[in-house]
Amino acid sequence: MERVIGVREDGGMHLRAAAAADLPFLIEMLLEACNWDGTPWYDEAKARGDDHAWRYLDGWPRASDFGVVAEVDGSPAGAAWARCLTAERPGYGYVADDVPELTLGVSPAFRRRGVARGVLTEVIAQARAASYGQLSLSVDPDNPARKLYESLGFRKVGVVGTSDTMVLEL
Ligand SMILES: CC(C)(COP(=O)(O)OP(=O)(O)OC[C@H]1O[C@@H](n2cnc3c(N)ncnc32)[C@H](O)[C@@H]1OP(=O)(O)O)[C@@H](O)C(=O)NCCC(=O)NCCS
Repeated sequence: MERVIGVREDGGMHLRAAAAADLPFLIEMLLEACNWDGTPWYDEAKARGDDHAWRYLDGWPRASDFGVVAEVDGSPAGAAWARCLTAERPGYGYVADDVPELTLGVSPAFRRRGVARGVLTEVIAQARAASYGQLSLSVDPDNPARKLYESLGFRKVGVVGTSDTMVLEL
């Protein structure tokens, strides 16, 4: 059954729970996150073939997955979703098996108008409603998303490679 938690209207932006049919758009957003600095490191075929990248969407939606899609004027504009990964197959921002890890992306045409803040705020509400204690993520220190995460209360707890692992206490 799909989760529907915290759906709301916000100034022309419609936020709704991410569903199975959103997989193609979530793949687009995963690629935005993988290619965040503008370098086309990943296309869909490479992401699907890369076990580490693909573990964020492999089998979407699993029973405990949750997420939010923002639509602007009826078009998907951005998404954030979270999934629990395991110590055996961790994400880049892995903290513990019971701490879901976030992925975030906004289509280039819809940036700088609050879409990322909107979907993140809602996915945090979903995590609280599901009684998780923390959310985690991985972000390059140069990514502008870092300031957004800090403004929402995420704090750096470690470094993996060149990226910071950040955690939000819920
Ligand atoms: C980072 C990203 C998600 C921001 O999405 P967005 O919808 O444009 O962000 P918002 O409009 O909600 O902005 C929220 C805050 O993010 C920060 N921010 C976002 N884009 C920024 C930019 N280009 N430069 C500086 N700060 C930026 C600001 O702090 C902003 O707050 P403000 O508007 O009060 O200044 C988007 O640029 C994106 O999809 N990038 C590629 C994927 C990615 O990097 N994902 C995160 C991987 S960890």
